Amino acid sequence: MSSSGRTGSHDRTGAPQHEGEIVVGLDIGTTKVCAVVGEIADDGITILGVGSVPCRGLRKGIVSNIDWTVRSIRDAIEAAQTMAGVEIRTVYAGVAGSHIRSQTSDGVAAIAGGEVTRADVERALEGARAIPVDADRQILHVLPREYIVDIQDGIRDPIGMSGVRLGAKVNLITAATSCVQNVIRCAERCGLVVADVVLESLASAEAVLSDDEREIGAAVVDIGGGTTDILLYVDGGIAHASVVPVGGNNITNDIAAGLRTPMAEADRLKRLFGCALGRMVADDEEIEVPGVGGQKPRRTPRRVLSDIIEPRVEEIFAVVRKRIEDTGLLEQLSAGVVLTGGSVLLEGTTEIAEEILGMPVRVGFPTGVRGITQLVHGPQYATGVGLVRYGAQAIAEAHAREVVPSHSMTRMTAAGKQQAGEGTKTEETPKSSKLWEWLKAAF
Ligand SMILES: Nc1ncnc2c1ncn2[C@@H]1O[C@H](COP(=O)(O)OP(=O)(O)OP(=O)(O)O)[C@@H](O)[C@H]1O
Ligand SMILES: [Mg+2]
Repeated sequence: MSSSGRTGSHDRTGAPQHEGEIVVGLDIGTTKVCAVVGEIADDGITILGVGSVPCRGLRKGIVSNIDWTVRSIRDAIEAAQTMAGVEIRTVYAGVAGSHIRSQTSDGVAAIAGGEVTRADVERALEGARAIPVDADRQILHVLPREYIVDIQDGIRDPIGMSGVRLGAKVNLITAATSCVQNVIRCAERCGLVVADVVLESLASAEAVLSDDEREIGAAVVDIGGGTTDILLYVDGGIAHASVVPVGGNNITNDIAAGLRTPMAEADRLKRLFGCALGRMVADDEEIEVPGVGGQKPRRTPRRVLSDIIEPRVEEIFAVVRKRIEDTGLLEQLSAGVVLTGGSVLLEGTTEIAEEILGMPVRVGFPTGVRGITQLVHGPQYATGVGLVRYGAQAIAEAHAREVVPSHSMTRMTAAGKQQAGEGTKTEETPKSSKLWEWLKAAF
């Protein structure tokens, strides 16, 4: 992900670099807002704190009520801040929704000095992003798939190679500008600076996918409350991204209607007794279903619950399969599918996914971090942790260019902040050898 349309301007808060930089991921989901605070240490990312609170301000991954979303962001940030003992000012925020689209593009640049430099790569990528985009849309990410130096294609990292002409094949991820702006506006209303807005599935993949899976070819499918996000990796690069506006909330709605029970009870029953594959449920199992409008609870076979859930889960995976088939890349996903997002905790999901998708399926838990990892140990935290990893990589890239991003934060108390002074402008900073070496190896 060397180029991603980052938004933040550059200034610095002043704490010594060796203390480690703080990176905060802000996952604004349909059911919850989750802020994850990480600290970049010499040898990895340490999770310092997490704040996760319910959110009712989104519909199908898109902000639909600014005030409710702002309230949840504020609460999540406050909780994460208290736990981590840091002041949060900058975040990497996630965005999703069915307005997300991906398309391929090409760019070309002359190799100025006979040997490819970072500047040549940046010019080729600039060329690839210079395509007409609808006035109400913006480019979110420019994701290189391969480079071509003269007649040699399939190159992952062209820097240092000899030639006269550099080509770049990329995937452009675009989004509705209004949806991205609403995410930024909500964060800003909480006094936060958004360093970058990141496609949520890209963040989730950062947290759950191994390098091997990326190389061999894999799909990441994040099934949350309001959306199912699909991201395909082929030959180490991203080949497709899309968002389907269906998720766990649809299953909950089906249960509430089918069993005539309140939504909160439907969600509870789903989590405790739900199963995506009816044949995994014994015939004699029973559950107690609370009634609506003061009606008495009643006992119902658990099988009835799974009979309601199964068709919806089948439908979700049928849509996922169709989306993958339409890309023509199904055969290239040799490593299979990694499922993540809270809805994949539903019993029987892996089994039914394997049947419908016809590929090996595993559940992806966030990896690549340490510290209080038990707080983010669940597929519903993949996006939050992934945003931290993404942010750490962005900071590493800034260090590589020997410029520290403006939004860079270090672990600071209020007193420390006063001492350092607010918002000094961009300064050139030599890369910190150990940190840089680790980040280079990690990403
Ligand atoms: N144990 C469980 N069994 C079944 N479903 C579960 C379980 N735990 C959570 N869920 C479901 O997961 C969904 C929430 O997942 P997640 O936190 O990943 O969503 P989100 O990020 O808020 O939403 P989105 O990414 O779609 O905007 C809810 O529909 C919830 O009911
Ligand atoms: Mg989510």
